[in-house]
Amino acid sequence: MNIPDEIRIVEVGPRDGLQNESKTVSTAVKIELIDRLSATGLKAIEATAFVSPKWVPQMADNAEVMAGIRRGPGISYPVLVPNMKGLEGALRSGCDEVAVFAAASESFSRKNINCSIDQSLERFAALIEAAKEKNVRVRGYISCVLGCPYEGHVPPEAVAWVAGRLFELGCYEISLGDTIGSGTAGTTQTMIDAVTDKVPVQNLAGHFHDTYGQALVNILTAMQRGIAVFDSSVAGLGGCPYARGATGNVATEDVLYMLNGLGIRTGVNLDAVVDIARFISDALGRPPISHVARAMLAKRPARDA
Ligand code: HMG
Ligand code: MG
Repeated sequence: MNIPDEIRIVEVGPRDGLQNESKTVSTAVKIELIDRLSATGLKAIEATAFVSPKWVPQMADNAEVMAGIRRGPGISYPVLVPNMKGLEGALRSGCDEVAVFAAASESFSRKNINCSIDQSLERFAALIEAAKEKNVRVRGYISCVLGCPYEGHVPPEAVAWVAGRLFELGCYEISLGDTIGSGTAGTTQTMIDAVTDKVPVQNLAGHFHDTYGQALVNILTAMQRGIAVFDSSVAGLGGCPYARGATGNVATEDVLYMLNGLGIRTGVNLDAVVDIARFISDALGRPPISHVARAMLAKRPARDA
C-alpha cells in the first residue's frame, strides 16, 4: 500500500470530546485529562474553545483550563476561536495555536456560528491576520465535508472551495470534518480528490466522527490519498452540539491500534491512551465505548480492569 509511514495525531478529546457533554465536567478533570494526554507522546492536544458560553456552556472555563495545564515541551495546545473576541481570550491565555471553523454547508454555518460561509471567511481573514502578527499559527476546520445534518448531500466542490479559501487566508492546515460521520470510503475518496485540486495534500488533515462506524476505513482511504494528519478523541468521546445525533470522533486508541498494525509511526503510547480512556470514562460515569479500550481493558487482571 502506498501510504505515509508516519502519522501525526491531533487529540481533540478535551474540546470536541467534552463540548457535547450535557453535565458540566469539572475544570480539574479537564486539566487532569490534558496533563495525562501530554504524557503519552501526543504532539498536539486541542485543549478548549474560546466560543460564546451561551452557545457552548461546557467550554466556559476555557481560561482556567489553559491556566491550569502543564504544557509539555514540543506539544502544541490549539484552541478553537470563532471571532476576534475568541482570539483575544485565546491570546490572553498564552495559546500557541488557534483553529477557526467554517462549514461547507450554509445551514450548518448558520446553526453553528450564526453567519453565512462568506461572512465567516471575512471574519476569519481579519482574525488570521491578527493571530499571525502575534506569531500564533492558525488551523482551519471545515465541517460537513461528507454530509450535513440539515442539507444532506454536500458537493465535493463546495468543500474544495472553502478549503482553498482557508488556505489562501493563511491556515497552515485544513482539517476536513465529517461532522455527522456519514461518509464512506467512496465519498471520502471523491471529496479528497476535489480538495487536493485546491490545497496541497501535505496541508490537509482528516477529522472523522464515527457515527456510522466508518471512520477507520475513511482514515485508511485518506491515507491512501496521502493525508498524514488525523484528529481523534480519547475514548471516542464527543459530538457537535449543532449536529443532532452525531456521535463521537473516532477513538484515538482505535486509530493507534490500526496504525500500529500497519507499522506506521505515531510516537504515541497505546497503553497509556487506554488508561486515559478509562480515566475519562470513569469521570463521566460510563464505560469506555471504543472497541480497543474495551478489548484491552477486558484482558487486564480483574483488579485492574
Ligand atoms: P452570536 O450570538 O451571533 O454572537 O454568536 P454575538 O457576537 O452576537 O455575541 C453574542 C454574545 O456572545 C455576546 O454576549 C458576546 O459578547 C458573546 P452578551 O453581550 O449577549 O452577553 N460572545 C462571546 N463570548 C465569549 N467568547 C466569544 C464570544 N463571541 C461572542 N468568542 C458565535 C456567534 C460565533 C459567538 C457563536 O455562534 C458561537 O460561539 N458558536 C460556537 C459554536 C461551537 O463552538 N460549536 C462547536 C465547535 S465546531 C465543531 O465541533 C466542529 C468541528 O469539530 C469539526 C467537525 O467535526 O465538523 C471543529
Ligand atoms: Mg468534530
